[in-house]
Amino acid sequence: MSNRTKFNRNTLGLVIFLHLDLTMFKSTQGPLNEYLNVRRSDFPDDFLFGASTSAAQIEGSTKSGGKGPSAWDQFIREFPGCNMATQGGQIGISHVAQYFEPYSNTSLDEEASKRAIDFELGWFMEPLVRGDYPESMRRLVKDRLPVFTAEEKELVKGSFDFIAISYYSSRYAKDIPTTPNAAPVSYMVDSNVNVTVEKDGVLIGPNAGGSYTEKSNDNIPISQTLKDDIRIDFVQKHLYQTQTAIKNGVNVKGYFYYSLIDSFEWGEGYTVRYGLYHVDFKNLTRSPKESAKWYHDFIKGRAVAKAMSKDGGMGDDDVELAAEKDSAFRRAARWCGT
Ligand SMILES: *[C@@H]1O[C@H](CO)[C@@H](O)[C@H](O)[C@H]1NC(C)=O
Ligand SMILES: *[C@@H]1O[C@H](CO)[C@@H](O)[C@H](O)[C@H]1NC(C)=O
Ligand SMILES: *[C@@H]1O[C@H](CO)[C@@H](O)[C@H](O)[C@H]1NC(C)=O
Repeated sequence: MSNRTKFNRNTLGLVIFLHLDLTMFKSTQGPLNEYLNVRRSDFPDDFLFGASTSAAQIEGSTKSGGKGPSAWDQFIREFPGCNMATQGGQIGISHVAQYFEPYSNTSLDEEASKRAIDFELGWFMEPLVRGDYPESMRRLVKDRLPVFTAEEKELVKGSFDFIAISYYSSRYAKDIPTTPNAAPVSYMVDSNVNVTVEKDGVLIGPNAGGSYTEKSNDNIPISQTLKDDIRIDFVQKHLYQTQTAIKNGVNVKGYFYYSLIDSFEWGEGYTVRYGLYHVDFKNLTRSPKESAKWYHDFIKGRAVAKAMSKDGGMGDDDVELAAEKDSAFRRAARWCGT
């Protein structure tokens, strides 16, 4: 992130990194197609737009696979003393956090969704904001959870300039009733939440493996791969919900689409393509997808509404429910004092 970026100290700025992955928000109502009208001007003037990459996933390590030093390798070597004081940089932390939607509207499942968020995001955010782990973790993990000393609490509290949320997808959270004799014994079961992607056989959202990230397939002509309307649609919806959240008081400072170019994904190798730019992995040619052009135009304030064709991707039924998504931001941002 540019060190020209100015976040006020002690003002929690939320930076969203968007990853396109398995599922997104489900919806059944809301202002249909209103998201198509989202514009650069709906965001504050100083809002940061960008696209992220992961050097390790694109370049690999310095000396293997025939690669030589990159600009980044050189930077590390030549500026080892580079630090916040001399560079005027900002210190933040990037959390991976998905949203957990209650499986049903029972209070048990609603509590379960809060616990799921506590165990994933709150685990880090509560200490950073309040100096201790979430109440639900202390209650359920008991003496297996380390205890902060008073000194550590003060040290960690407020020790950041901004928070980044690396954001992939959503899951359902269903309460698992505690049984008296089955003591919870691991991070995976302590929260008593059953995390699922479907309800009554229906996925929580479109399956990105097949649509959003177009499974890499060399038999698909590149001309077709570059026409990624579904990515544009997804980003448009996300930007619409982001500016809605800002208007509702969430302090979001920037948005970085991930990834700038197709890369090597940790779990999936070259089989998924997250990029705004297509990479031919055989000859390393990079070609802008339609989404790259759209995003560029959007940032320049030139984007025009781009409606999805019915068979091209998501239909009206998939249009996100503004209030629902907004509440997702609010939950993620409940440590922002908004
Ligand atoms: C909430 O629960 C009630 C009672 O089970 C049910 O009638 C209603 O349809 C549910 N609403 C939603 C939005 O799930
Ligand atoms: C989680 O939910 C699924 C689907 O409802 C169910 O089949 C499974 O048994 C549940 N698992 C636990 C541990 O409760
Ligand atoms: C490299 O890949 C691009 C994109 O797939 C293709 O259009 C081009 O013809 C290839 N070039 C060579 C020299 O193979």
